[in-house]
Amino acid sequence: MKAPVSIRNTAYNENIQVNANGELKHFLSIEGLSCDHLTKILDTAENFTGVTDRSVKKVPLLRGKTIINLFFEASTRTRTTFELAGRRLSADVLNLDIANSATKKGETLLDTLRNLEAMQSDLFVVRHDGSGSAHFIAQNVRPGIGVINAGDGKHSHPTQAMLDMFTIRRCKKSFHSLCVAIIGDIEHSRVARSQIHALNILGAGEVRVIGPKTLLPTSVEALGVHVYHDLKEGLKGVDVVIVLRLQKERMQGAFLPSEREYFQLYGLTEDKLKHANSDVIVMHPGPINRGVELDSAVADGANSVILQQVSYGIAVRMAVMSLILQPGT
Ligand code: CP
Repeated sequence: MKAPVSIRNTAYNENIQVNANGELKHFLSIEGLSCDHLTKILDTAENFTGVTDRSVKKVPLLRGKTIINLFFEASTRTRTTFELAGRRLSADVLNLDIANSATKKGETLLDTLRNLEAMQSDLFVVRHDGSGSAHFIAQNVRPGIGVINAGDGKHSHPTQAMLDMFTIRRCKKSFHSLCVAIIGDIEHSRVARSQIHALNILGAGEVRVIGPKTLLPTSVEALGVHVYHDLKEGLKGVDVVIVLRLQKERMQGAFLPSEREYFQLYGLTEDKLKHANSDVIVMHPGPINRGVELDSAVADGANSVILQQVSYGIAVRMAVMSLILQPGT
């Protein structure tokens, strides 16, 4: 296959994620992976929670490996947990400071890559506002170098989806009888797309999306979800609620009359949450906007597992890195 020369003409070739033995070479999207692949990531992460819980949070598994974080877009949780994950596996982890890098002097993404390859890198972790950017890099790196997608445009955020699946499995034990509702801005959400694929691959009982028509992609049902526009209706019988931020940085035009009206209709409050099952868990990938998509009482309430998601992100990212760099893990 000829490598694409720009992100814009990159095809989402999911097959390049695994080698002939079915082992992970890259982690670019949930699509194209099997239930066995996802379960292996969850089971491996389960083993790593033992490391993250002890006083010396380090194992020598990736000693001598070099991991480079390439974040072309802002991040708090993903970048820091990838860095911690790499360090806890004893890899050398570098964060390219994009704002002060030679990309500001006109160096192309491909030339930046070639230079980082020349530093004997083993793995690139990439966040970029261009959908397809991680695929583009994976299709252009030297054989043997892994690429992990840390969020590309509104396409995919697979490690976020896996840490969400890990949180759900930890709290609810099994996916099969679960009803999961994702509320809010599905249209601009790479997280929602990855979560929907992961939940369906792992056999969740029912996946719902709840939001105004303007924030749901056309033909969203084709992803394997039931659509609700009324929040209280959509919450009935739900075991897991995932709340999404309004991703204004990806909105071109007016999608909502006002944030106040959005909060009235779709903002999750304690009262509205009573329509879900009493043992419902409330999740959010972060960053949260209090008073916009959820009330503080819900964000900090007894049903919230939002900060557990962040903690589990370290073990899940350790699992993905080690499965790519040490396939026998
Ligand atoms: N969930 C998430 O991707 O958060 P950051 O943008 O802070 O990495």
